[in-house]
Amino acid sequence: MDQSSLNSLLKPKSVAVVGASSQPGKIGYTVIENLIKGGYKGKLYPINPTATEILSLPVVPSVTALPEAVDLAVITVPVKLVAQVVEECGQKGIKALSVITSGFSEVGRKDLEDQMLEIARRYGMCVLGPNIVGTLSNSDELNASFAPFLPFPGKATLITQSGALLIAMDAITYTRKVGFDKMISIGNMADVDFADLITWLDTDPNTSCICLYIEGFKDGRKFIEASRKTKKPIIALKAGVSAHGAAAAASHTGSLAGAVKVYGAAFQQAGVVQASDLNNLFDRTLALSLQPPLRKENLLIITNGGGVGVLATDAAERYGIPLKFAPADVQEELKKHMPAFGSAKNPVDLTGMAGNDWYYESVKFAYAHPWTDGLVVLYCETAMTNPLEIAQAIKKAIDETGVKDHPVVVSMVGGTRCDQAMQWLVENGIPAYPAPDEAMNGMAALREYNNIRQMIADDGDGCDPTGSKISREIIAKARADGRGSLTEIEAKQVFSAYGLPVTETNLSKSEDEAVTLAKKTGFPIVMKVVSPDIIHKSDAGGVKVNIKDEAGVRSAYQTILKNCKAYKADADIRGIAVQEMAPLGTEVIVGSINDPTFGPTVMFGLGGIFVEVLKDVTFRVAPVNKQQVSQMVGEIRSVAILAGARGEAPRDRAALEDLICRYATMVYDLRDEVAETDANPVLVYEEGKGLKVVDARVILKKK
Ligand code: ACO
Repeated sequence: MDQSSLNSLLKPKSVAVVGASSQPGKIGYTVIENLIKGGYKGKLYPINPTATEILSLPVVPSVTALPEAVDLAVITVPVKLVAQVVEECGQKGIKALSVITSGFSEVGRKDLEDQMLEIARRYGMCVLGPNIVGTLSNSDELNASFAPFLPFPGKATLITQSGALLIAMDAITYTRKVGFDKMISIGNMADVDFADLITWLDTDPNTSCICLYIEGFKDGRKFIEASRKTKKPIIALKAGVSAHGAAAAASHTGSLAGAVKVYGAAFQQAGVVQASDLNNLFDRTLALSLQPPLRKENLLIITNGGGVGVLATDAAERYGIPLKFAPADVQEELKKHMPAFGSAKNPVDLTGMAGNDWYYESVKFAYAHPWTDGLVVLYCETAMTNPLEIAQAIKKAIDETGVKDHPVVVSMVGGTRCDQAMQWLVENGIPAYPAPDEAMNGMAALREYNNIRQMIADDGDGCDPTGSKISREIIAKARADGRGSLTEIEAKQVFSAYGLPVTETNLSKSEDEAVTLAKKTGFPIVMKVVSPDIIHKSDAGGVKVNIKDEAGVRSAYQTILKNCKAYKADADIRGIAVQEMAPLGTEVIVGSINDPTFGPTVMFGLGGIFVEVLKDVTFRVAPVNKQQVSQMVGEIRSVAILAGARGEAPRDRAALEDLICRYATMVYDLRDEVAETDANPVLVYEEGKGLKVVDARVILKKK
């Protein structure tokens, strides 16, 4: 996307509204009215074939009759007229289009959207929408939308896929006092998408935080790339995370992948903080748009009430923020600004007697002290104090320290006087919340932002794609055979080609051949049926383990054949696999699905009940570097098992991380061929003793 065309879209020097109307209540009227009421200072041209004047502005009869090639055309004509209007805009040399009109791909008319896009591309115009509310910008006094007014001013910028939500959030900015500079409705994203806007906003001096409402991406990897490069905090609320194709999955990994997990992984890799709901989005945006990140862990709470202090402490624990007592010298100094029955620990309780001076002195001292990395100031409304004066004392204290890189958030719990005081704080750059847990949520967002950016700061090394050629030959053979998946032996050959340690497995086509292979492999061995028609081999009686000698091999061969024929009489049995029996180890699962939005992913979890019952698994978008793998392994809830629970020796984590890295490289390399894979189970041994992939599954993409 040519970023200069986004300047025309978002900071236009001239605007035409094509489909402007003189009838109040029509969108074409409201957009003109909003542009005027918003105070737009550029040239404004209403275009309508019959009207002569709209809201005292002279009307231009058509796009071709415009006296200049405007930067932006806002289109509000019905869908059947859009292609013609876009063609005229192109001929006129207009640079950007904001297409409010609905009736395109959202109602199954992708053909109309493609037609419009083809014309726009031919003339090098960028298109926002279609099916949007428009764009709003306080700093440009531009309300090129049918949302009623510009948002409560501030430094966040919203990009939303839901137009209705933009209108609702616009109004909420005034009740919540969360300030936005811009609000952009992105609609069907025929052309301009999240990534394009994020890149543009990164250099917008009026945006300090990018706030997203997302329903889905067209190109998830482009979003990750753009977000990773951004130097400003991004916060995302993802809607529709409940049922993401998991039901139709053919592999174990597929059934564990939900949008919540895959999107969560993508946000993490993109350095994007998440919000859990709309309120949470506002709370977090307020902090991220006004304050620097919390870079270290020493957080101090100052309060005039024990109750709100405890509520804030509980919230800190919920958000995983460790609270420590301040050092003795800090406590000694703070004691000077409270009565004897106060507490200088953490929370610092100035007691209900605290007035402006105590707040001022204690905030100033604590905020300036080198021990303090961040500050949460709480206040309960009392009859002896004036909330606005308390707010002003806090702000004065903060300013006088000269400290700029430590975050501070405030909560003022009380009535309308507190609301007014909090509005004053927000207008003066300090996030303020009506409840202590909300303030702590704001601080948690500042901490998460810091941590997530640190995690992606180091790109680290990946693994080489070694096995491409041999794997593609194996896959081509299976496809020529009419199969949609590889046999276990083929899957293991593919895994092995990428350097994954697999149990030695060979195909026998007769009892005698099975005996020869068993002797070559070394007893004990495992024998398994190989049949494209039998996916669940154990259920069919197609697996025998711990076979110790030749007689056992012969008997197992016969039994497996008999069981499988009884299970499925017409099953295409290709032979019996003779496999090395791996010694017992800690079971883990590594897998992948090729996600429709993000492409190949890699999943890791502990086997057994951890995966079956607890679904304790973690995802990343593949490929992954070694640092990301280390984070993956560390973030499952049952990670302590790998460290050696209940007196067991620690497992070989280095070998496990290497396996996951190679696995991710493999699925990324074969992304055009492979739909889903599992290495399940993988047995992990004691430190230094490595691991083995015992079973392997590869399901091919349908072509
Ligand atoms: N050039 C300029 N103006 C033209 C042209 C032309 N070639 N042809 C017609 N017009 C004028 C019409 O004469 C009319 O003006 P008038 O009122 O003076 O007669 C004006 O354009 C609008 O055309 P109408 O036929 O009256 O269409 P209407 O205003 O009813 O609807 C609209 C147009 C708003 C674009 C509608 O088709 C639509 O898509 N509505 C949904 C928009 C929407 O909700 N988008 C956001 C989705 S997100 C959310 O849900 C909030």
